[in-house]
Amino acid sequence: MAPSEASTLAPRTANFDPVAKGYRTIERLVYGSMLEEARFSLLERWANARRLLLLGDGDGRCLARVLKIAPGASIVSVDASAAMLRLAASRLTAQERERVEFVCADARTFVLEKGDFDGIGTLFFLDCFSDDEVRLLAARLRAALRPGGLLLYADFELAGAGLSRLWKRVLIGVMYAFFRVIARLRTTALPNAVNALEAEGFVETERRIWWGGFVRASAFRWEGTAAGRG
Ligand SMILES: C[S@@+](CC[C@H](N)C(=O)[O-])C[C@H]1O[C@@H](n2cnc3c(N)ncnc32)[C@H](O)[C@@H]1O
Repeated sequence: MAPSEASTLAPRTANFDPVAKGYRTIERLVYGSMLEEARFSLLERWANARRLLLLGDGDGRCLARVLKIAPGASIVSVDASAAMLRLAASRLTAQERERVEFVCADARTFVLEKGDFDGIGTLFFLDCFSDDEVRLLAARLRAALRPGGLLLYADFELAGAGLSRLWKRVLIGVMYAFFRVIARLRTTALPNAVNALEAEGFVETERRIWWGGFVRASAFRWEGTAAGRG
């Protein structure tokens, strides 16, 4: 399906349109292939999924890969940036596009059906939010996942101590300053997304790290029952 412009974007929603086309190049210049490796590292776990939700899906590199890895899956790809969604759609064949519902909306507020998804992806996405917002999002994601479903997560972390922590802090500060100017992102510090997920009953089943823990990719299973979904 073609990406649609929805009206669920609040004035406070970040706008990644200006950076959409250059996003991949900037990422490569700063991090080489590291973020790509983290983004793709656990996608194979969704090989048998039937229905997947990608939040803050970005320019579609992940989407294109997931469509191949999970040939039986239909995918809902949500992003607040219409430009990102157009770019994502342009990577796909007409046949692949039939399996994707593109939603241009704010992930904090768009209507999510309960228990609908076998898997949810938040790849370099939860860092766009404050601790409070991430807690609310984590509760929404738990409700949207079927029992036994798998959430794949990747993001930056302030790991380590001393000099090792200092350069990570500086790099994260520069990233937030850049996206504040370019994308009107209001978040200024990494939220504790893993705590928020674990507080909702997500259990980590796998983890990979890069650059001494600066980037982490994790799989989180939600083993709750439909009755306990809330
Ligand atoms: C840092 S980029 C990451 C994109 C992609 N997941 C990746 O791994 O490259 C964050 C993405 O989240 C989207 N985004 C930011 N705030 C959002 C919100 N409130 N609702 C939906 N999407 C949002 C941005 O438009 C952007 O595409």
